[in-house]
Amino acid sequence: MYQAAVVTVSDRSARGERPDEAGPLVASLLEAAGYEVAERRIVPDERAEIEQVLIELADRRQAALVVTTGGTGFSPRDVTPEATAAVCGRMAPGIPEAMRAASLAVTPRAMLSRAAAGIRGGTLIVNLPGSPKAARENLEAVLPTLEHGLKMLLGGPADCAKETGGAGNS
Ligand code: MTE
Repeated sequence: MYQAAVVTVSDRSARGERPDEAGPLVASLLEAAGYEVAERRIVPDERAEIEQVLIELADRRQAALVVTTGGTGFSPRDVTPEATAAVCGRMAPGIPEAMRAASLAVTPRAMLSRAAAGIRGGTLIVNLPGSPKAARENLEAVLPTLEHGLKMLLGGPADCAKETGGAGNS
């Protein structure tokens, strides 16, 4: 069982002005997929604070997967992708590409998500948009495939040939 952490990035939720709905939803989707959600955090849209919590969850908690929700749009304070890129040694652009491709079938506004994904040490960090609906739609598009990536990242050589196939395979 892989350990996961969920980070809600929202000024209003961090101030206690808006209940965090996306964070618990993302956590429950991860748990249903077999992850142990070891930690949930709420941080404001401050790049330094986002970077600090991502580093802590990756380096100290050693979470295999860190999923953020919020701060991926165009408003001036949306800086989650920049914070993610700053702490990752290697980016994984296929994950947000897949999320946006699936989400464009739902809404053209999917193109407005600047979500990123990347790897810091033994941790995969994936950004999701902030609304619960968007967070669910984006996560569900990639969740079945993430485990194969984590296997490669953490479990030594994974046999891609054995596990690739048609639609629906992970
Ligand atoms: N993706 C899906 N699947 N469904 C949605 O409703 N909303 C979009 C986009 N991605 C959406 C989506 C919108 S309106 C925005 S502004 C961006 O995600 C960024 O969201 P964020 O600023 O809350 O992170």
